Order: sequence, then structure tokens, then C-alpha cells
Amino acid sequence: MEPTVKNLVIEKAKTSKIDKVDFEHLSFGTVFTDHMFVCDFKEGVWQTPKIIPYQPLTMAPSSRVFHYGQAVFEGMKAYKDDQGGVFLFRPDENFKRINSSSVRLEMPEFPEDYFFEGLRTLLQLDNEWIKPGVGNSLYIRPFAIATQAGILAAPSNEYKFVIICSPAQAYYGGEVRVKIAEKFSRAADGGFGYAKAAGNYAGQFYPTRLAQEEGFQQVIWTDDHTHEYIEEAGTMNIFVRMGDRLLTCPINDRILDGVTRKSVIALAEDQGIDMEIRPIKVQELVDGMRNNTLKELFGSGTAAVINPILGFGYRGERFELPEVEDSYATRFKKQLLDIQYNKTADKFGWRYQVI
Ligand SMILES: Cc1ncc(COP(=O)(O)O)c(C=O)c1O
Repeated sequence: MEPTVKNLVIEKAKTSKIDKVDFEHLSFGTVFTDHMFVCDFKEGVWQTPKIIPYQPLTMAPSSRVFHYGQAVFEGMKAYKDDQGGVFLFRPDENFKRINSSSVRLEMPEFPEDYFFEGLRTLLQLDNEWIKPGVGNSLYIRPFAIATQAGILAAPSNEYKFVIICSPAQAYYGGEVRVKIAEKFSRAADGGFGYAKAAGNYAGQFYPTRLAQEEGFQQVIWTDDHTHEYIEEAGTMNIFVRMGDRLLTCPINDRILDGVTRKSVIALAEDQGIDMEIRPIKVQELVDGMRNNTLKELFGSGTAAVINPILGFGYRGERFELPEVEDSYATRFKKQLLDIQYNKTADKFGWRYQVI
């Protein structure tokens, strides 16, 4: 395959590591493919993009990213069907989102042709790493960091855009119970919660660890003003089923505009499910448990697709969701996986074939 971005330089790995990988027992995000995509920003322009063997980055300890946190990223997956076709799911959304994250962190936007051609070439080179079978995927992590040396609290004038890929099996095993945040916030009005910026995740680890010590796996963040309204979880947007009505909160500048969330909303509307996008009070969940109208709570995100939430804790009380027949979570998960793995028609035009 000839790259269409004419100056994409390809340096192939001399040997592949693939034979050393146990694809049946992958620990998420720990094994990486043979190649990576890199492109530097210097003197106001993105330089020649390159695909090189996966390797460490060499950077000055004074690089701005280490001190001021100019770092954005994305999370995407490549899926392989039984005929060897390789697909991405709505990659244009991830591309737009990394650029809007960059703009918020005063970082340069990345060119669309470099992104898609880099990604396509990388996946072709590392195609063997993408295993067919629902649940298997190649997790794709594009990211950009500030590389200018010098500890001055100002935006960098040099950056590196990188794409690395990691073979993955289904992300979440086990059961998820969440603590609904009463004190800590993930993001605030006017901040950058909507950006997929590294700092948004760093700030979650401490409150999440405290919640884990109480026996929860994740935190559902609430609005920073009142802590009365649910917003999102660690790496998932949240859906609530009250009776047969599906609810999710609107996007605002504290919440990541998830691709999976958008897709669930589109599926629900298409199927005539009673769907409402409006602020959701924690108290509604508590009342819903008490009067048996709360039927389901689930998260949506690229890594887990749809993740049922089995219970939640709020103000010292714990609630266990009932088991439901005809679960929305199960239904949407299957529908999304069927589209992603090319097992069904793609009436929304979400599939993007790479190979
Ligand atoms: C904070 C946060 N919310 C929601 C999501 C879900 O977004 P998506 O469906 O695009 O993966 C993610 C994952 O990317 C996330 O990190």
C-alpha cells in the first residue's frame, strides 16, 4: 500500500514481537504492537509524519508536559470481522474531539489527512495484531504532548503527536458498583472537563481510590455546584432507565461528549425508546430504588462499550439494582458490537473500513 500523504516516512520493525504475546490473557493496555506513529510540531508547522518501531520517547526533563500538563489523548478501537476486514467506529468523532481538546489546552490542531493516513498505515503494518472475534480489538491511543524544553509556565511551541496501539480483550470483567460523589468534583464550570486531557484523569485517581476502599469500583461524578446531579463516571457516560424511559444528562463543559453515548442515543431514538436528555438528580435514583421504578443504570464508553452498574452508594446508603429481563444495556451492547464487528447493516454510516 502506498501512503497518500506523500511524505509519510515508514521505518519497519526488523523483527516482530507478536510471537511472544499471549492473546488469550491480555492485561488491558500493557502490550503494544510493533509500530507507532509520530509527528513533531516545530516552528509553527507539523513536520514529516513517521511510522517507526515502537520505542521509548526521549525528552528533556524540562519538557513542558511534565510541568504544566499540556497533554491530550483519545481512545479508539479497531475491530476485525471473520473475513479479515478491519473497521473503526466513528473515527471522525475522535479526530474532532482530540482537536477540540487541543484547542482548549492551547495546543495546535492536528491535520486530518496526517491522522487518517497515519492510522490507516499503522493498522496495515500491524494488522496481525488485530484478532477477529467479538470482544477482541486493537485499542488505539492517539495522544499529543508539549515537548518544548524549559520550565516556564507558558504554552509550549513544540509538540509531539503519537499513536500507539495495544491488543485488547473485553475491558471490564466483573461487577461494577459506583459511589456517587458527594464531596469531590472531576471538573468545574468553565474548566476543561469536556476535553480528553490527561489532568482530568489524574484528578480522579485519589477520590476513586477512597471509593474503592469502601468497596466501590468507580465514582459517578456529580455537578461541582451542588453535587445533586449525576454527570459521568471515570471513563463512561451514564444512562438511567426509569420504568421504560431512558435518561441521560446533557453534555456541558464538565462532561466528555462520548461517541458511545451519542450512538446509544441514536439507537434508542431510532427504536422508538422513550428517551429524555435532561439533568438527572441523584435523589431521583434514590427515589427510583425506593419505589421500584429504577430499572437500570449503565455506563457507555469505547473501552467497555456498555457496562451495567449493579449498585450505587450515596450518603452512606447502598442500593442494589434489580435484575431486569430485556435489559437495555444488553440490547445496546449487542447492537453496537454487531455494527462494530460488521455483523449487521450499518444504517447510520458509523463503520469506517480500513482494510
Ligand atoms: C471521562 C470520560 N467520559 C466518557 C467517556 C466515553 O467516551 P467514548 O464513548 O467516546 O469512549 C470516556 C472515554 O473516552 C471518558 O474518558
